[in-house]
Amino acid sequence: MPLDLNQQARDILNRNDRGGYTVPTARLYPYQWNWDSAFVALGFATFNRDRAWQELELLLEGQWTNGMIPHIIFRRDDPDYFPGPSVWQTDGGAFPSGGISQPPVLASVILELIESGDGSDLARASEMFDQVLNWHRWYHRERTPEGCPVVCTVHPWETGRDNCPDWELGLNRMQVDPDLEPYTRMDTVHATPSERPSKLQYDKYVSIIKFGRDVGWDQKRLTNEGPFLMADPCIHFILLRADRDLLRIANLLGRTDVAGEIQGFVTKGDIGTDYLWNADLQAFCAREVRSGEFSQGFSNASALPFYADAGTPEQRQGTLDNMHRIAAKVGYMVPSWDPDATAFEPQRYWCGPVWPQMNNIISKGLAEQGEEDLAEKVRADLVRLIEKSGFFECFNTMTGDGCIGTDFSWTAAMWLAWASPTNREK
Ligand code: DGY
Repeated sequence: MPLDLNQQARDILNRNDRGGYTVPTARLYPYQWNWDSAFVALGFATFNRDRAWQELELLLEGQWTNGMIPHIIFRRDDPDYFPGPSVWQTDGGAFPSGGISQPPVLASVILELIESGDGSDLARASEMFDQVLNWHRWYHRERTPEGCPVVCTVHPWETGRDNCPDWELGLNRMQVDPDLEPYTRMDTVHATPSERPSKLQYDKYVSIIKFGRDVGWDQKRLTNEGPFLMADPCIHFILLRADRDLLRIANLLGRTDVAGEIQGFVTKGDIGTDYLWNADLQAFCAREVRSGEFSQGFSNASALPFYADAGTPEQRQGTLDNMHRIAAKVGYMVPSWDPDATAFEPQRYWCGPVWPQMNNIISKGLAEQGEEDLAEKVRADLVRLIEKSGFFECFNTMTGDGCIGTDFSWTAAMWLAWASPTNREK
């Protein structure tokens, strides 16, 4: 008889544990990834709270002295992954790491652990509060381009939504660096190439890394002078939510000394939200900063205004209308790219598949803002996907087949912490 899914999910987290931190999946992603770890902590918290906090503590060990928490921490070199530490060549923190960040979901995860825990959880949160605040400061200071009202991004990998068609606007404006050294991709050895980004996209990803290296990872220069600069609804809404949650943590901890500063971040985020509103599509969309051009498709990040408690009633209604349009077209919500837009591919990484952690935060936001039916559909569709295909990294939005990484940590974590019907009953 097959193991029940709750047990399978716990086994996956334990198997992907590398001694205090968790790899997203064996071989394809052999290091600690930033937002993966934050989601993973929620899964561990359902059966081992100490291990949940440890995941976050080890993530914070990778923080740079400038406050950035990098997207990957390389505690050791693994030749199975490209681009590894010898390509990034960073020295901003205690460990070699990526030179960019990732969506800052950490503060929201910490608040969730505090709210589901007791005094000892609050004490552990208190230990890491200043480090998390420094990361938010870094985002607001180093990733807000001159003259732009919102935090932006310099690399598709920073958004976590690597090859979403959203980024084509920014990638089309840049050239592959003519001096790029030849390299060998490893991701297409470990996963089916038709599910992964293209060669041209990869050449541009690596070209941006080369620019970062060439400016000595000066993050302000990377933002203002780098080859790629876009505003991302995923980072924007996650940061706005995280700023609100950090303010709540500050209040719980009596940190009146920084409450005003964090409130300033929230106000900036609320005002900046309009910058991402694409009136033609009636949706929040990615935007190329130098041209002001909007991406023309509804991604799963477009579904996040509820999670951030942002947007006007009209903007929220436009978002819901788009979601209902899309729900009528796909087998499973929420696809990472718009089935009515060009470049939609239901199986290719961020061009269509459903992502478990995105469903989680989309559904959470919808439920909080009174959209219970849609929130429940987004959860129930993930349950159907996992029951049908198992704990994949993401899922074909049409057929429900699993895509790319197997035995995936955040899928297991999202099952345990949120989607699993039995855990929800408890
Ligand atoms: C990868 O290697 O695909 C990662 O998403 C980069 O962070």
